Amino acid sequence: MKELYEIAKENIKNAYVPYSKFRVSAALKLKNGEVYKGVNVENAAYGLCNCAERSALFAAYSNGVRKDDIESILVYTDQEHYVSPCGSCRQVISELMPQDATVFLATSKGDIKEIKNKDLLPFGFSSEDM
Ligand code: THU
Repeated sequence: MKELYEIAKENIKNAYVPYSKFRVSAALKLKNGEVYKGVNVENAAYGLCNCAERSALFAAYSNGVRKDDIESILVYTDQEHYVSPCGSCRQVISELMPQDATVFLATSKGDIKEIKNKDLLPFGFSSEDM
């Protein structure tokens, strides 16, 4: 998890945030040890902004990774307080990562909080509802 923290921290420089100036970086760890990185990528059409968590997950899925390959994701910001995934990311994390996978929230001070995927989106909508 320390490794994930260092990777996410180093990569936050790649966040594309001309509008919010709020940088977020995510590092997604696979069970085989591989790590996929993601940052938030914004757009002048604000609704098209993509969060760091989804960037990392979409990068992994684009390369053939699937839910059962994934162990955890760490979300890093250069803030001193914890930043938790937005509602859209919770929905995507809920579907694309195992329910018992760990989501780490990390601050610039090095504090790390741990939460399970299933606890981020209680009573959520899923394919089983269709
Ligand atoms: N953002 C993320 O990338 N992840 C989060 O968990 C919260 C919000 C981004 C979206 C936008 O680029 C900026 O932070 C401000 O909302």
